[in-house]
Parts: sequence; C-alpha cells; structure tokens
Amino acid sequence: MEILKKLEQIHKDFEGEIEKLSKQADVLNLKANVLGKKGSLSEILKSLKDATPEERKEIGPASNSIKQKIEQAVLAKLQSIELEEINQQLAKNRIDISLRDSLMMDGLKAAGVHPVSAIQREIEDIFISMGFDVLDGPHIEDDFHNFGALNIPETHPARDMQDTFWFKDMKHLLRTHTSTIQVRGMESRKPPFKFVGPGKVFRCERTDATHEMCFHQLEGMMVGENITVGNLIYFMKTLLKEIFKKDMEVRLRPGYFPFVEPGFELDIRWKKPGKGESKHSGWLELLPCGMVHPNVLRAGGIDPEKYNGFAFGLGLDRLVMVKYMIEDIRHLHSGDLRFNSQFSMI
Ligand code: PHE
Repeated sequence: MEILKKLEQIHKDFEGEIEKLSKQADVLNLKANVLGKKGSLSEILKSLKDATPEERKEIGPASNSIKQKIEQAVLAKLQSIELEEINQQLAKNRIDISLRDSLMMDGLKAAGVHPVSAIQREIEDIFISMGFDVLDGPHIEDDFHNFGALNIPETHPARDMQDTFWFKDMKHLLRTHTSTIQVRGMESRKPPFKFVGPGKVFRCERTDATHEMCFHQLEGMMVGENITVGNLIYFMKTLLKEIFKKDMEVRLRPGYFPFVEPGFELDIRWKKPGKGESKHSGWLELLPCGMVHPNVLRAGGIDPEKYNGFAFGLGLDRLVMVKYMIEDIRHLHSGDLRFNSQFSMI
C-alpha cells in the first residue's frame, strides 16, 4: 500500500506546514502545492492507474477524505488569520479615552462653540420662545425648492442674483439660500404656522472680505390670516433687541426679491466701529424680508385668498461680524485658533 502511506505522509507534512504559517497568501500557496493541478496529492493520484482495482477502492475514499480535511484546515486557518489581523488592527486603533484629560493637564483647552453656531443657537432659542418651530432642509436641492416654488421660474433674470453651484444634471444644486426651507415648511404643515430654518448656503462667489462661497442664513416664515408688515417689524425688533441687548432703531427700504411682495431691506442704525458717533453712524443693511408672494403660497399648497404671511432671511455670518466687529468674513472659516479662541467657551 505504497500510495496510501504516501497520502498519509502528505497529510502529515501539510499539517506540520500549515501550523507554522501566519499569512493568508502563504496558506493559499501551501494549498496549491498540495491540492493544485501539479500539487503533491494530485501527482500521487496520477499513479493510481497502476494500482489494482482493490487498491483503488481503498485509495479513492482515503484521498477524498484527506482532500476534504486539507480544505477544511485551510479554511479554518484563513479565518483565524483574518481574526488575528482584525484584533491587531483594533489594538492599534484603540481610542485612549484618558488621553483628553492628560492633554488638558498639559495646558490644552477644550474646544468652544464657533461664533456662528453660537449665534444660530441663540436665535433659535429666541424664536422658540416666541412659538416658532425650528426646521431643517437638505444642502442639495432641486430646482423647484430653490427657485421654481419661490416665484423664480426658469429663464427669469432673478436667477442671476445668486451665482449657483449646479450639479452636472442641471436639475440639482447646492442651495443658494435657506428660502428652500420656506417651501419645505409649507409642504409639511397647514396654516397658521411659524417657523425658522437655519443652515449653510452656497454661492459660486469669488471670496473676499465680505463674500464667502459658503455662509449661513436663518430663514423665517409666518403664515396665517391677516398678517401685516406691523407683525413682521414686531418680530424683527424683538429679535434684534434680544441679540444686541438693547432696543434697535430699524428702517424698512423697498427691496426686490421675487418671493416677497412688497419686499424690504431692513436696516439697523449702526455706529461704525472705532469711528466718532456723529460722523460715521449710519444705517446698516441687515435683514431682507417681506410679505410672502401669493405665487409662493400657491406653490406651497396654501390658498392666498385666505392666508398671507411674512418671510425673512437673516445672514448669520454678517450678524456675527457686526456683533463682534469682525472685519473679514474669511476669519470665520479659517479654523485659526487665534481667532476661534477669542470666543467664549461653552
Ligand atoms: N433668500 C433671500 C436671499 O438669500 C433672502 C430673503 C429671504 C429675502 C426671505 C426675503 C425674504 O437673498
């Protein structure tokens, strides 16, 4: 029984070999060396043709069972190597939760809240206290929510007021304003309602001291019966008083936005930083707003014969700049700790 002995020897050798291996590639090589077309097991089975029928009867099942055992051993080894690799990775990537404290002891401070986020939260709280909901919307929008439903149809020149990042399909875009949230708000509720919607907006702008390609707005909308410009002014003055901690003098100038009629620019009386009160104090454009255009209400599924309302879009970066007298909007996105650390920690 030469052949049977040889088969057993091959199996034994294999078991000795596989034991020593620690890489999946080596295991696969070993398997090929034994079971492959030119592998040792296959070579032996080739000599089967010289065996007697009785021998073949024995050798056949024996070689099959060895083959199976080898295959199982290979599989088990591959799995255990994989597990070992995962464990090693986990050990390497372990998060040391005690690290923060030890770094803090070395004089590093915990991060604070960015001034834009801080003012956003503050304004959300002010509006929540006045009964407004806070809504969200996606950064990637479709034409309808950013333009169409806001009374800015295709080919309307008002589209040029906002340089837009379009996607290749020319149907989707990065929202250019939070007015998209007006549309989503109208779609999801029945009047009367009032909500604000803060978030990032994007414009294809060349950056300079007053322009960024990504900035923040907070949209507001109130819809009900018999809403007036007086209501709009009341809410805006209340907001400004809370933010600046004093009564602010405001004025409304006519302003054009296709989704409001009449539309306004709300200015606050403002003293330029560092300059004498009388000579340089003036009006600062802060808040575009207006009475919601009937077409916008209609697009949002609201009957303009029965309901009306106001909307506004507050520039949060602008507000932070005014509040803290920051001269360049680019500081806000710089990530520069010398800038960030000037704001209070929370
Ligand atoms: N969406 C306008 C803009 O970004 C601002 C705005 C909002 C104007 C609501 C009026 C009413 O320019």
